[in-house]
Amino acid sequence: MNMTQMNMTKQNLGLPIFFALGALTLAASVAQAADISTPAVLAGSCSTCHGPGGQSPGTMPSLAGLEPKYIMTRLKEFRSGEAPATLMNRIAKGYSDAEIEALGQYFTKTKP
Ligand code: HEC
Repeated sequence: MNMTQMNMTKQNLGLPIFFALGALTLAASVAQAADISTPAVLAGSCSTCHGPGGQSPGTMPSLAGLEPKYIMTRLKEFRSGEAPATLMNRIAKGYSDAEIEALGQYFTKTKP
Protein backbone atom coordinates (compact mmCIF):
# COMPACT_ATOMS: atom_id res chain seq x y z
CA MET A 1 0.00 0.00 0.00
CA ASN A 2 1.48 3.37 -0.96
CA MET A 3 0.98 6.63 0.95
CA THR A 4 -1.93 7.82 -1.19
CA GLN A 5 -3.82 4.60 -0.66
CA MET A 6 -3.30 4.77 3.08
CA ASN A 7 -4.65 8.29 3.25
CA MET A 8 -7.71 7.24 1.26
CA THR A 9 -8.39 4.41 3.71
CA LYS A 10 -8.13 6.75 6.67
CA GLN A 11 -10.50 9.21 5.09
CA ASN A 12 -13.04 6.57 4.22
CA LEU A 13 -13.09 5.37 7.80
CA GLY A 14 -13.11 8.83 9.29
CA LEU A 15 -16.17 10.10 7.52
CA PRO A 16 -18.74 7.49 8.70
CA ILE A 17 -17.44 7.79 12.25
CA PHE A 18 -17.86 11.54 12.04
CA PHE A 19 -21.48 11.14 10.94
CA ALA A 20 -22.22 8.46 13.52
CA LEU A 21 -20.99 10.76 16.28
CA GLY A 22 -23.07 13.58 14.85
CA ALA A 23 -26.20 11.42 14.91
CA LEU A 24 -25.54 10.44 18.52
CA THR A 25 -25.09 14.06 19.57
CA LEU A 26 -28.32 14.97 17.80
CA ALA A 27 -30.22 12.13 19.47
CA ALA A 28 -28.92 13.27 22.86
CA SER A 29 -30.01 16.86 22.32
CA VAL A 30 -33.48 15.78 21.16
CA ALA A 31 -33.88 13.70 24.31
CA GLN A 32 -32.76 16.69 26.35
CA ALA A 33 -35.21 18.97 24.55
CA ALA A 34 -38.11 16.85 25.78
CA ASP A 35 -36.89 17.29 29.35
CA ILE A 36 -39.21 19.03 31.82
CA SER A 37 -36.68 21.85 32.15
CA THR A 38 -38.08 23.11 28.84
CA PRO A 39 -41.87 22.97 29.38
CA ALA A 40 -42.49 24.87 26.15
CA VAL A 41 -41.14 21.90 24.20
CA LEU A 42 -43.13 19.46 26.31
CA ALA A 43 -46.26 21.55 25.69
CA GLY A 44 -45.57 21.74 21.96
CA SER A 45 -47.27 18.40 21.34
CA CYS A 46 -50.46 19.72 22.98
CA SER A 47 -50.70 22.68 20.62
CA THR A 48 -51.72 20.47 17.70
CA CYS A 49 -55.15 20.18 19.28
CA HIS A 50 -55.34 22.82 21.99
CA GLY A 51 -53.80 25.62 19.92
CA PRO A 52 -50.44 27.41 20.26
CA GLY A 53 -49.77 28.12 23.93
CA GLY A 54 -53.02 26.30 24.71
CA GLN A 55 -55.10 29.07 23.11
CA SER A 56 -57.55 27.04 21.10
CA PRO A 57 -58.86 28.56 17.88
CA GLY A 58 -61.55 25.91 17.49
CA THR A 59 -63.78 23.53 19.38
CA MET A 60 -61.00 22.02 21.51
CA PRO A 61 -60.88 23.32 25.07
CA SER A 62 -58.35 26.11 25.69
CA LEU A 63 -55.71 25.40 28.31
CA ALA A 64 -54.22 28.89 28.52
CA GLY A 65 -54.75 30.55 31.87
CA LEU A 66 -56.34 27.55 33.56
CA GLU A 67 -55.35 26.91 37.18
CA PRO A 68 -52.28 24.63 37.31
CA LYS A 69 -54.06 22.48 39.87
CA TYR A 70 -57.05 22.07 37.54
CA ILE A 71 -54.86 21.06 34.58
CA MET A 72 -52.90 18.64 36.73
CA THR A 73 -56.01 17.05 38.24
CA ARG A 74 -57.65 16.69 34.84
CA LEU A 75 -54.54 15.07 33.32
CA LYS A 76 -54.21 12.63 36.21
CA GLU A 77 -57.90 11.73 35.97
CA PHE A 78 -57.52 11.12 32.24
CA ARG A 79 -54.42 9.03 32.87
CA SER A 80 -56.10 6.82 35.45
CA GLY A 81 -59.25 6.48 33.35
CA GLU A 82 -61.33 8.22 36.05
CA ALA A 83 -62.48 10.97 33.69
CA PRO A 84 -64.30 10.05 30.49
CA ALA A 85 -62.31 11.00 27.37
CA THR A 86 -62.05 10.32 23.68
CA LEU A 87 -58.35 11.14 23.31
CA MET A 88 -56.86 12.52 26.50
CA ASN A 89 -56.96 9.18 28.31
CA ARG A 90 -54.47 7.81 25.80
CA ILE A 91 -52.36 10.99 25.62
CA ALA A 92 -52.11 11.48 29.40
CA LYS A 93 -50.64 7.99 29.81
CA GLY A 94 -47.41 9.25 28.22
CA TYR A 95 -46.68 11.80 30.96
CA SER A 96 -45.11 11.41 34.40
CA ASP A 97 -46.28 13.32 37.49
CA ALA A 98 -43.36 15.75 37.12
CA GLU A 99 -44.20 16.40 33.47
CA ILE A 100 -47.89 16.91 34.28
CA GLU A 101 -46.88 19.47 36.91
CA ALA A 102 -44.60 21.25 34.41
CA LEU A 103 -47.48 21.36 31.89
CA GLY A 104 -49.84 22.79 34.50
CA GLN A 105 -47.33 25.51 35.40
CA TYR A 106 -46.70 26.27 31.74
CA PHE A 107 -50.28 26.70 30.51
CA THR A 108 -51.33 28.87 33.42
CA LYS A 109 -48.84 31.46 32.14
CA THR A 110 -49.81 31.43 28.45
CA LYS A 111 -52.99 33.46 28.93
CA PRO A 112 -53.42 36.01 26.12
C1 HEC B 1 -55.12 14.79 19.50
C2 HEC B 1 -55.64 15.98 20.12
C3 HEC B 1 -55.17 16.35 21.52
C4 HEC B 1 -53.87 16.50 21.97
C5 HEC B 1 -52.59 16.29 21.19
C6 HEC B 1 -53.97 16.94 23.35
N1 HEC B 1 -55.27 17.03 23.74
FE1 HEC B 1 -55.96 17.60 25.56
N2 HEC B 1 -57.88 17.32 24.96
C7 HEC B 1 -58.25 16.83 23.71
C8 HEC B 1 -59.69 16.55 23.73
C9 HEC B 1 -60.50 16.02 22.57
C10 HEC B 1 -60.15 16.88 25.03
C11 HEC B 1 -61.56 16.66 25.62
C12 HEC B 1 -61.52 15.34 26.38
C13 HEC B 1 -61.46 14.12 25.47
O1 HEC B 1 -62.44 13.83 24.79
O2 HEC B 1 -60.38 13.44 25.42
C14 HEC B 1 -59.00 17.39 25.75
C15 HEC B 1 -59.05 17.86 27.06
C16 HEC B 1 -57.96 18.31 27.78
C17 HEC B 1 -58.00 18.87 29.11
C18 HEC B 1 -59.26 19.15 29.93
C19 HEC B 1 -59.71 20.55 29.60
C20 HEC B 1 -60.88 20.99 30.46
O3 HEC B 1 -61.39 22.08 30.18
O4 HEC B 1 -61.25 20.29 31.40
C21 HEC B 1 -56.74 19.15 29.48
C22 HEC B 1 -56.27 19.75 30.80
C23 HEC B 1 -55.87 18.76 28.38
N3 HEC B 1 -56.65 18.26 27.36
C24 HEC B 1 -54.50 18.89 28.39
C25 HEC B 1 -53.68 18.49 27.35
C26 HEC B 1 -52.23 18.56 27.41
C27 HEC B 1 -51.43 19.12 28.57
C28 HEC B 1 -51.79 18.07 26.23
C29 HEC B 1 -50.32 17.85 25.81
C30 HEC B 1 -49.55 17.01 26.67
C31 HEC B 1 -52.94 17.70 25.42
N4 HEC B 1 -54.06 17.96 26.15
C32 HEC B 1 -52.86 17.18 24.15
C33 HEC B 1 -57.43 16.64 22.62
C34 HEC B 1 -56.05 16.67 22.65
